[in-house]
Amino acid sequence: MLKFISSFVVCLTAVVFCTNLGLAEKPQSTEDALAAGKSIYDKVCYICHGSEGKGDGPSAFFMAAYLAPRPRDFTVGTYKFRTTPTGEMPSDEDLFRTVTNGVPGFMPSFQGLSESERWEVIFYIKSMSSAFAETPAVDPIVIDNRPAPTASSIQRGREVYKELKCWDCHGHNGLGDGPSTNNMFDDLKMKMFAQDLTKPFTFRGGDTPEDIYRTFMTGLNGTPMPSYAKSLEGREKDAWHMVNYILSLARPKRPTP
Ligand code: HEC
Ligand code: HEC
Repeated sequence: MLKFISSFVVCLTAVVFCTNLGLAEKPQSTEDALAAGKSIYDKVCYICHGSEGKGDGPSAFFMAAYLAPRPRDFTVGTYKFRTTPTGEMPSDEDLFRTVTNGVPGFMPSFQGLSESERWEVIFYIKSMSSAFAETPAVDPIVIDNRPAPTASSIQRGREVYKELKCWDCHGHNGLGDGPSTNNMFDDLKMKMFAQDLTKPFTFRGGDTPEDIYRTFMTGLNGTPMPSYAKSLEGREKDAWHMVNYILSLARPKRPTP
């Protein structure tokens, strides 16, 4: 009996581990996987991203015509939410994270698709741009060792925010009201605003400390939000202090009536 219980526990732990860490094998991008990806795409993605991936699906028509962000045009090969340095292509895992979590306010989470379905649809959207094949894959940046958000860490973060002139776009108190914010456009010439940093639940790239670190270290390709990897080279602690500062600005989400 004891033996049975212990092997049951081992099995259960293995299952819990594998699901939590997303350790399920990443499948190969075969012809079959691409075909399966296309049929998923034609059911759930085309409505915004368009049948040929140009970001011009039927519901994109109803989104504000001159306001960013538009659904991504997959034929261009420009991606915002990456662990890879500025200007580079995203890793497969970056795309997997975006499809799994969605983009708050703009794109639903696709956790309802199985992991292999998510991989299949990712292989399919990658096949829409030659940029993936033409650009060598690069290593993701290291995101590690966050210091505790103590008062002195937050204070130091505020100094770094000032020094790097984040306020020029995001404002002195992070409200998204900096002097440059009224004159910003993305690559598609769509009007865009600097994010209000006091509302982390609206961050499209995610609002965990690691997400925020990634956002300003790698930048958002195709938008005015630059990468600060050069300015913060060898200053990882300062980068983390700034993450702690940004999170300290968070205002509570207003309860929905
Ligand atoms: C309701 C509309 C909608 C649907 C449905 C939708 N998307 Fe999106 N998607 C968007 C919008 C809008 C953006 C741009 C967000 C931004 O730039 O901040 C986007 C961006 C993306 C990105 C780019 C992320 C990056 O790093 O730049 C990927 C990848 C993506 N979508 C994949 C998918 C896939 C795969 C599906 C179907 C399984 C899908 N989307 C369904 C609206 C949608
Ligand atoms: C030139 C203007 C500009 C400067 C300078 C700038 N940002 Fe941004 N930032 C933007 C814009 C524009 C967006 C919104 C991009 C989008 O909507 O895709 C943004 C978005 C963000 C986001 C949220 C991204 C998300 O996931 O939605 C964070 C966090 C951020 N910036 C942090 C910073 C920090 C920290 C600095 C300074 C180190 C900084 N920014 C400097 C323009 C700027």
